[in-house]
Amino acid sequence: MATEEHQRLANIVKSCHDSLRQLTKLHGAERAWQEHTGPHNAAKLAEYADAMQQLAGIWETNTNKTELQARSRIKWAIDYITKYFYTEGIYLQKRQREQRLLASYTELAEAECTFMDEPPDRLCVLDVGSCFNPFGNTPHLEVTAIDLCPAQGALVLQADFLTVDVDAQLTEPEISEQSVKKLPANYYHCVIFSLLLEYMPSAEQRLLCCRKAYELLRPEGILVIITPDSQHVGKNASLMKNWRFALAKLGLLRVRFEKLPHITCMVFRRAISQELSQHWASVHREEGICEAIQIPQDEH
Ligand SMILES: C[S@@+](CC[C@H](N)C(=O)[O-])C[C@H]1O[C@@H](n2cnc3c(N)ncnc32)[C@H](O)[C@@H]1O
Repeated sequence: MATEEHQRLANIVKSCHDSLRQLTKLHGAERAWQEHTGPHNAAKLAEYADAMQQLAGIWETNTNKTELQARSRIKWAIDYITKYFYTEGIYLQKRQREQRLLASYTELAEAECTFMDEPPDRLCVLDVGSCFNPFGNTPHLEVTAIDLCPAQGALVLQADFLTVDVDAQLTEPEISEQSVKKLPANYYHCVIFSLLLEYMPSAEQRLLCCRKAYELLRPEGILVIITPDSQHVGKNASLMKNWRFALAKLGLLRVRFEKLPHITCMVFRRAISQELSQHWASVHREEGICEAIQIPQDEH
């Protein structure tokens, strides 16, 4: 049972999401986003960040089953990243699979492939919408944590991922006064979107985030997406198919899908060849499939 304080914090988070959706209905996503992220709303965003951080603290100490699931998203992501790059060398298995696939598509005989060097001791990770830097203390992760409005005291830099520049000439993030100005392309081993995409009110904004993640990742790097979902696994299956298709068109092939009771955890990998990934999408195009990152709330 949620305590009064818990309920109060959850209401702050929910009302921030509701007010952005209301603004979107009135003015469209672009203007709604400008107003939401504008200076007059700064206090609301700070209140949200504080509530999210406190809620996470409660999740850490509670033994309630729902909260255990919510908390497990961080552990799930760290476990998969570790297996992919180190303990199970999944990236090599996936490389071989893609090479086999490429050989089977005769029309791609000339496709250019790029590979990742052997993973270093500390992986470069970008946690987008980090809020309170939940991945920050993981020994083998060198985390750049960014958020629209970082929680107080957390080692998180300010940036709007929708507008931040991605620059192919950079060799590290360009930071000034605790704010990220530009991010380096082809740099990160892993980009994390944990409960990020559904914050944004339009399918186009979510797709833009995924496109940027592709640009920021090295070949064979991974995008980890955690999205809330309390339904049974089949309920949102067609939306998830669209996500898979849309990301494959960008060059990101899905390598893991796991439905936990209150969240869905997915991993997409930057394929060794964008042409391969796009060809996979065209081969798997089904009737009615669309290149969109929609969420159930879009229907209301
Ligand atoms: C539900 S919280 C998730 C926090 C944390 N990742 C977690 O899993 O607990 C969503 C966060 O995403 C941030 N966010 C939403 N859109 C963003 C954007 N375009 N750029 C940066 N941060 C964003 C919000 O400010 C908020 O802190």
